[in-house]
Amino acid sequence: MQERSSVAELVTSLRAELNRYSPGGKLPSSRALVERFRVSPVTVSRAIAQLAAEGLVTTRPGSGAFRAEPRAALPAPGDTSWQEVSLSGDGGPEVVPRTVDASGVLVTLAAPPPGVIELNGGYLHASLQPERALSAALARAGRRPGAWGRPPTDGLPELRSWFAREIGPAVSAADVLITAGGQSALATALRALAPPGAPVLVESPTYPGMLAVARATGLRPVPVPMDADGVRPELLADAFRATGARVLVIQPLFQNPTGATLAPARRPEILATARAAGAFVVEDDFARRLVHDDAGPLPAPLAADDPDGTVVHVCSLTKVTSPSLRVGALAARGPVLERLRAIQVVDSFFVPRPLQEAALELVGSPSWGRHLAAVATELRHRRTALATALGGELPELALPHLPAGGGSLWLRLPGGGAEESALVSAALRASVAIAPGRPYFCAEPPAGHVRLSFAAVSGAAEIAEGVRRLRTAFDGLLGS
Ligand SMILES: Cc1ncc(COP(=O)(O)O)c(C=O)c1O
Repeated sequence: MQERSSVAELVTSLRAELNRYSPGGKLPSSRALVERFRVSPVTVSRAIAQLAAEGLVTTRPGSGAFRAEPRAALPAPGDTSWQEVSLSGDGGPEVVPRTVDASGVLVTLAAPPPGVIELNGGYLHASLQPERALSAALARAGRRPGAWGRPPTDGLPELRSWFAREIGPAVSAADVLITAGGQSALATALRALAPPGAPVLVESPTYPGMLAVARATGLRPVPVPMDADGVRPELLADAFRATGARVLVIQPLFQNPTGATLAPARRPEILATARAAGAFVVEDDFARRLVHDDAGPLPAPLAADDPDGTVVHVCSLTKVTSPSLRVGALAARGPVLERLRAIQVVDSFFVPRPLQEAALELVGSPSWGRHLAAVATELRHRRTALATALGGELPELALPHLPAGGGSLWLRLPGGGAEESALVSAALRASVAIAPGRPYFCAEPPAGHVRLSFAAVSGAAEIAEGVRRLRTAFDGLLGS
């Protein structure tokens, strides 16, 4: 963090000074800049690299950095309004709108404004990410022979074996494709399994990024309500009958957003219902490594016991490491694997080899187990801190389920949707960002909800302060 801010400061100072040099004029040497600004050589080289990327300086190996020639003025903007017609006017009857709504995905990826407590983040706070182990893994990966060569398009064999072992003994490396994280695996799976316009059954509520993928693929998400034990089997059977859907997407473990885990008795029932409908079950196992240390033994993935290939399994390393370690896996059996493989290679060729090598280095390093254990302990502390703070400060928000995994709590509001959006806006004015419940529902929600994340904040103190700010926001609503 410090390194990043000193780079920014040096860039600002150098930018302000550039006018002193004529175009082509030489900037002071790196050593002179190190001494004058009392920063490290790395900071100087990163600042110069940033100015070079902005086109303000040029660098010549062995000679130094020079003020760049001024750029020609940008041409006057043209008239792009014709695109609106082109992007929407397809002639034929359009079953599926082609506009893509990225808001459900951007919410998890956007950084909060400065000073705002991030109770809406989707990934681990930097202090929980294994930054040192990741850097070491990437460095070792870069030294592996052939690290920059082409990987096999299905992924590195050792990494496919590692994912296969993690999923379960019945899964082999040949059943696994390496993907660029869970999001791209979900996109590949949905595109493989249903044609545009087709229905896809989804848990209600569910992860907005998956709903966004489904809609962008031209599918029609159809909600199937869930309770504390996961998706409700009788309503699932009704939904298959009513829609003729051939795909169901579920998160059987620590579901996002409810935190629910599919009850053992329901697991065979859900699979049998899908089989009877001739449908695939996309199992998004995104939170397995976000288990809390008081969870008890975890159920195996549905894919671990699925000889007939009903389940298409999705998992990823991002959630327990860094959103930038975009390495995940798809596992499937039967002809569907060929379809998945073809879509993946057509869309993106393969996952960059250095990243796959780094993932292998990371999961094979002695620090991996320690990291998982540390995350499990810290997430349990934070979950307890958030639930306790909410119980004390905001008893109006109902917490139907205290999860033993994942990074967030799902809370029901006493009022409806209007109260939900008013609370989210008031919270942001009070400098705490929370996620509204509405995007988690693909049809009208039964009540107002909010999702509060405890993974993306710096620790218990921020959680307590975030809840205090939320109390203030809620009081403001009651008073208005
Ligand atoms: C339920 C669920 N599945 C999949 C993903 C995708 O994650 P990634 O692409 O980083 O693996 C997310 C991210 O928020 C998620 O919440």
